[in-house]
Amino acid sequence: MRIKVLTIFPEMLRPMLEASILKRAIDAGLIEVELVDIRPFSELKHKNTDDYPFGGGPGMVMLAQPIVDAVESCTGEAFRGKRLYLSPRGRTFTQKMAEELSKEDELLLLCGHYEGVDQRAIDLVIDEEVSIGDYVLTGGELGALVIIDAVARLIPGVLGSDESSEDESFSSGLLEYPQYTRPREYRGLAVPDILLSGDHAKIARWRRDRALELTYQRRPELLENIEMDKKDRIFMQALRERHGEA
Ligand SMILES: C[S@@+](CC[C@H](N)C(=O)[O-])C[C@H]1O[C@@H](n2cnc3c(N)ncnc32)[C@H](O)[C@@H]1O
Repeated sequence: MRIKVLTIFPEMLRPMLEASILKRAIDAGLIEVELVDIRPFSELKHKNTDDYPFGGGPGMVMLAQPIVDAVESCTGEAFRGKRLYLSPRGRTFTQKMAEELSKEDELLLLCGHYEGVDQRAIDLVIDEEVSIGDYVLTGGELGALVIIDAVARLIPGVLGSDESSEDESFSSGLLEYPQYTRPREYRGLAVPDILLSGDHAKIARWRRDRALELTYQRRPELLENIEMDKKDRIFMQALRERHGEA
């Protein structure tokens, strides 16, 4: 997958792309991330990229011209993908959306700053606005990194076989079960016996029950979309009874 990030602060993204799993994926050619500085596209003498908002109000607004030119320079006839603008007004980014985006050949991520970007740039060259949550950041760069990270790890080969994403929170629709590693006992807290039993069927059942239980306790609304078999339903019935619900 090829990802282009348009920003006036490319240096904000570099460190994240030069470490750990993202670096490995880039080095292996599984993803390609190009940081495109919007500033050189400005036609203004001092390469300004923002101006005061028409109608008044605080802050500055990013100019349409450098953004539109930068996007067009990156997305010729051959561009096959989505052009996204990071924005608190956008569709909220979720694991499901990460899965959708991981199937694209190319992504373009536009990072705003200040009070945001001139609406005409959005109207002309953006397919969709995406928010990474209900809060306001100073710029879209952290959002772009969140999307790159979540999408990249779904691309085949990016995670090693021992780092599989299959069981993780949200992949199955449930929050993930608790994980343990060595030592068997730490500060008086022991690893649950079942995980040391070697009985794979029982371990799988224990993990499924814990995932159901955690999701019930923390994000009960997620349970509405989960397909449950008979064992799941019996467990959930007992759980609800314990909580005085059933
Ligand atoms: C200070 S914000 C602008 C907020 C804008 N005035 C508003 O109220 O919608 C500056 C930039 O940060 C990015 N940003 C802020 N919060 C974000 C969020 N929750 N998700 C994605 N991008 C965000 C956007 O690119 C935005 O253009």
